[in-house]
Amino acid sequence: PTPAPAPSYAINFAPVAINGNDTVTVPAGYTVDVLLKAGDSVETGAAYASGSFPGSAAQTNFWAGGNHDGMEFFELSGVDPNSGGLLAINHELPDYNILFSSGAYNAATATADQKAIALSAVGVSVVEVAKGTDGKFAVKAGSRFNRRYSGNTDYRVGGPAAGLLSPTIRGTLNNCSSGRTPWGTYLTCEETTNNYLDPTQPNNNYGWVVEIDPYQELAAPTKRTAMGRFSHENTAYMDDANNRVAFYMGDDSTPGCIYKFVPDRAYSTGNRASNIDMLDYGTLYVARFNADGTGEWRALVQGQNGLVANASDPGNVSQSTTPPTPTTVSFNSTADVLINAQSAARVAGGTLMDRPEWITVAPNRQAIFVTLTNNSGRRVTDNPNPRTTNLHGHILKFRENGDSPLATRFTWEVFLLAGNPNLAEANLKGNISGDYFSSPDGLRIDPQGRLWVQTDHNLTGNAGTLNGAAVNMTQAFGNNSMYHVDQTSNASKRFLVGPVGCEITGIAYTPDLKSFFINIQHPTGNWPVSGQQPRSSTIVVRRTDGQPVGN
Ligand code: FEO
Ligand code: CA
Ligand code: CA
Ligand code: CA
Repeated sequence: PTPAPAPSYAINFAPVAINGNDTVTVPAGYTVDVLLKAGDSVETGAAYASGSFPGSAAQTNFWAGGNHDGMEFFELSGVDPNSGGLLAINHELPDYNILFSSGAYNAATATADQKAIALSAVGVSVVEVAKGTDGKFAVKAGSRFNRRYSGNTDYRVGGPAAGLLSPTIRGTLNNCSSGRTPWGTYLTCEETTNNYLDPTQPNNNYGWVVEIDPYQELAAPTKRTAMGRFSHENTAYMDDANNRVAFYMGDDSTPGCIYKFVPDRAYSTGNRASNIDMLDYGTLYVARFNADGTGEWRALVQGQNGLVANASDPGNVSQSTTPPTPTTVSFNSTADVLINAQSAARVAGGTLMDRPEWITVAPNRQAIFVTLTNNSGRRVTDNPNPRTTNLHGHILKFRENGDSPLATRFTWEVFLLAGNPNLAEANLKGNISGDYFSSPDGLRIDPQGRLWVQTDHNLTGNAGTLNGAAVNMTQAFGNNSMYHVDQTSNASKRFLVGPVGCEITGIAYTPDLKSFFINIQHPTGNWPVSGQQPRSSTIVVRRTDGQPVGN
């Protein structure tokens, strides 16, 4: 691979230690504020009150949902963006513990009211946020931009598969991570291909990227079928000088492929409304990683790359040394390809990866990183997925030929293998220099080039052998955490450790990088409000001296 020049920026924080504390730990000189908790009011209405469980969705439809995940910050015309703007926040799952007295939900036996409550707590919150005189960001109550999009909302359907789906679809859910377009819309990604909260809904209605205009000017929220149906993690875009753009996407399946979607035409910077159907016309590609460090994007287009009637799907060949029996699948239209994108990707020769989670594109277009969070079941390795029983995951780096979003070829390398060097097993040690971690998930390169990585290890799952004894993930890695990782040396510094039980996800920031928005997902201890149920929350991290984060 062609090496990219190293970005230049300062990284001066003192790393924090691994810990299992029930709080958010940040470096000396940093401070943490809680901005939006599950159950807080988004649209006008009474917020969650500790210990009282709602009987219907009449209130919860207006609350912030649960399991805060991907997130984007949008500037507002006439507002200093470093002091205010819009935050669009994904809700992957309900925080069941504040919705149901049992703390649990069973879709098979749920009443209509219970279904509506659960479905209200997924989707997206858009909130206007503003900095107060105390320097703390807060949600601006009553803003006309504050809006919930949930599992109870109806969505338009756009793109080639629209004809095979209902004209409007009830609900979005499992809104894992997200992204944005160059024309200022939010892309929320469905990480499930069926509605497990309401199985009466048709299954092909889920597993899409949904475009939401946080300013409420363009189209109503729309499922963009041209971007393919799979267990979407996030989107990250690269654009060029001619306003051509590609959206990179991972399928967080065990295993799953990496995709990109290239719209047919350039976007407009002068006429925002003309971008309204940009995501309905274009080509979906799957990544094939060759053993020699080169790679190619294969078009998922009916009639090309084996996508024909009676095609042979080889199945998930990475998970067993005994190859699965191929299945016959027919691709008779573009809609067939998009609805069955996972199968189409395998037929077309896409490489099966160890659960692709977030993708991020360097501002200089010279590097793209993707987290491959883990795959304990991998039995057949290849160069881009080099470990069997990959408990701790890895990060891949690739570069488009010509640094162009339109490239059909790229080069790639394994950037780092996650793990703990003190573990006894050679394949679990990893090769991180500095602060080690497991299960990289969220990642983003900020505008100055700092690569931030967030973890989602599975807490009580097997992590390997430490000092002669089997240990779980929390024992081997502490609570889930966030790191700065140098783009060339892979030197890692632990920036933040979350409270008990949580995963760390979601990275957004003000343009001056002085306020970082981060999500604490599914804490299980006594955080963030002592004496109440734990609640997923968006936090704001900033420096007490008012300087940019990390600098
Ligand atoms: Fe919802 Fe793949 O994380
Ligand atoms: Ca994730
Ligand atoms: Ca994850
Ligand atoms: Ca999660």
